[in-house]
Amino acid sequence: MTRIVVLISGNGSNLAALLAAEDAAARRTVAVLSNRDAAGLAHARRCNLPTHVVKPRRGESREDYDTRIDAALAPYDPQLIVLAGFMRILSAGFVARHAGRLVNIHPSLLPKYRGLNVHQRVLDAGDAESGASVHFVTSELDAGPVLIQASVPVLADDDEAALSARIHKAEHRIYPAAVELIAAGRAHAESGSIWLDDSPLTAPLQARFDQHGVLIAWPQQLTD
Ligand code: GRF
Repeated sequence: MTRIVVLISGNGSNLAALLAAEDAAARRTVAVLSNRDAAGLAHARRCNLPTHVVKPRRGESREDYDTRIDAALAPYDPQLIVLAGFMRILSAGFVARHAGRLVNIHPSLLPKYRGLNVHQRVLDAGDAESGASVHFVTSELDAGPVLIQASVPVLADDDEAALSARIHKAEHRIYPAAVELIAAGRAHAESGSIWLDDSPLTAPLQARFDQHGVLIAWPQQLTD
C-alpha cells in the first residue's frame, strides 16, 4: 500500500477531504507535516495520525530547512508526498530528491495564474471560469504536468471569498481522486509527462462544477 505524507500550512480542508476518502482501517496517509502550528493539523490528530511541525529558523537557507523536512519524513519512507496548501517554495534539491513522488494542488486552471493571489487576479481579469489543478511538482513553480483540473464558473458578483469557496469544494473532489489514481499505480509522471493506464496523457483530465459546486461532468477515465 502506498505510504503518503501530507504537507499543510493552513486550514487543511484538502487534508480532511483526503483523509475522508481513505479507508480508515487501512490508511495510506501515515503522517502530516506543517511549517507552522496549522489549524488543519487537527484533522490528522482526529485520525490518530502523527503530526510534525517543522518551523523555519531565522536565517536558515531553503536547502537547510528542506533537509530538516526530509529528516522528519524519513522514518515514514513516503512513496508519495502530497502538498495540500503547504505555503513554502521547495528547494530544487528537495524536488529532485522526490521527483515523480511529489504532487500539489493549485487553485487555478494552470498554466494560467501560477503563484499567489490567484482569485483576485482572476476577478481582476474578468475571466468567466476558474478552477483548480493537481500537478506533479517540478523545480519551476506551479509548472509541473497536470493530472486533473476542475473548472467552476466565475459569477458577476463574486468576491475573492466566494470564488475561493467554490473552488475549494471542487478541490475536495479532484484531489482525493488524483491521489487515488497515483496510489493505485494508474497514473505516474515520467520525463515531464503523465502516464495514465499505460498511455501518455495528452491533456489533463477535466471535471466541471456549476456555480453551486455541484458536479456536472467527471472524467470518463475515473468512472470505472
Ligand atoms: C487550496 O486552495 C489549494 O489549492 C492551495 O492552498 C489551499 C489550501 O486550502 N494550494 P486548505 O488548507 O486545504 O483548506
